Amino acid sequence: MNKTNEPPARWFQRIDEDPDEVFYASPRFVEHIDKATIEKLREYYAEIIDEETDVLDLMSSWISHLPSEIKLTRSSGLGMNEQELRANNQLSDWCVHNLNTKPQLPYPADTFDYVLCAVSIQYLTAPIQVLKSALEVLRKRGRIVIAMSHRLFPTKAVSIFQHIAPEDRIKLVSSYLEIAGFDEVTALDRSPTNADPLWIVTGLKVS
Ligand SMILES: C[S@@+](CC[C@H](N)C(=O)[O-])C[C@H]1O[C@@H](n2cnc3c(N)ncnc32)[C@H](O)[C@@H]1O
Repeated sequence: MNKTNEPPARWFQRIDEDPDEVFYASPRFVEHIDKATIEKLREYYAEIIDEETDVLDLMSSWISHLPSEIKLTRSSGLGMNEQELRANNQLSDWCVHNLNTKPQLPYPADTFDYVLCAVSIQYLTAPIQVLKSALEVLRKRGRIVIAMSHRLFPTKAVSIFQHIAPEDRIKLVSSYLEIAGFDEVTALDRSPTNADPLWIVTGLKVS
């Protein structure tokens, strides 16, 4: 980061600079990480998500990895492909919204208790703007949970993610959250053995 805490624009260049609507036009009904890694993420969500809360799954698809035993009041999904979101039976509502052209989230302030973002933060070209907006839509004491692994679509991931080691990606995402205004930024390694790794960065909205 430079002195103004603004990351250099070249970090967010991509091999494929076509509009994201082109890349995500067709649904991908696939799991983007191993089943054991999904299970670890689900277990983590079960540890931290309270019953009867409102959850936003940012950069969502046809699966949200939410633990079915937790009764949520609302589970909203935001992603790029309508067919995937329509097929996601864990969502109570969803919208198609391109965060790289509209980093402002389409929800009023103080709407959610949790914002989740699974294995997707590397596709954001203006992550700090998106995370500032996530802070706004969270209620006081709300939490953001960013889960990362090592797989990515190479043509769509921003340059910085392709040029640094996993531990530096965790530091990078931690600084995104701090710059966006989150408190108590914490990084965890919940990787299963012999499966895709799982690194989680969380932050809290204190006031
Ligand atoms: C690797 S998939 C992960 C999907 C899901 N979170 C999961 O854990 O399986 C990447 C997701 O990021 C979403 N995405 C990519 N670019 C986006 C953008 N510009 N705005 C909003 N969502 C985007 C896609 O719709 C896709 O669902």
